Amino acid sequence: MRVAILISGGGSNMVALARSMTGDHPARAVLVLSNTDGAGGLARAEDMGIETAVVDHRPYKGDRAAFEDALHNRIVASAPDLICLAGFMRVLTEGFVSRWQGRMLNIHPSLLPKYRGLHTHARAIEAGESEHGCTVHEVTPALDDGPILGQARVPVLPGDTPDTLAARVLEQEHRLYPAVLRRVASGDKTRIDL
Ligand code: GRF
Repeated sequence: MRVAILISGGGSNMVALARSMTGDHPARAVLVLSNTDGAGGLARAEDMGIETAVVDHRPYKGDRAAFEDALHNRIVASAPDLICLAGFMRVLTEGFVSRWQGRMLNIHPSLLPKYRGLHTHARAIEAGESEHGCTVHEVTPALDDGPILGQARVPVLPGDTPDTLAARVLEQEHRLYPAVLRRVASGDKTRIDL
């Protein structure tokens, strides 16, 4: 299975995924693509010998469809069987998602359906949650929705800040996403709970 990983930042989830695709793993990373050339994950991907690309969203300004066409065309050039969104911070419209539905995963730092959208850790603390976590799901046109393929839970501890909670969740993201990818790459979409 050929996997394209989309990033916007440091790419720690991309690194975890790429490192997991070795040996008898049925998948290989064939592309790491960012919407910005400032993404630290690009250098990390190059260090691992993975082809990289940048499709900058800024030249397209408000023309989201034109950006998504450029994005789609560059991804198609690498002929992936699956797209993994990993810290990719652009909202994708139905126009793009419909072309990849069933073949695109995302990791979101909350226990969906709770806390869709941004600032999930601060919102969980603010709400007095005793637990929090991350979710890997299939991407559908609705934001942070779609069939859940896996979740990992962490406690919210007294004195937690958004940063300390985010760090605890990120550790689990790096366990969950590779576990879900391996199962999906083996043709099994049974949910994983860590
Ligand atoms: C992570 O919290 C992830 O859940 C979110 O983006 C953050 C950064 O991810 N989608 P990464 O280090 O760039 O993989």
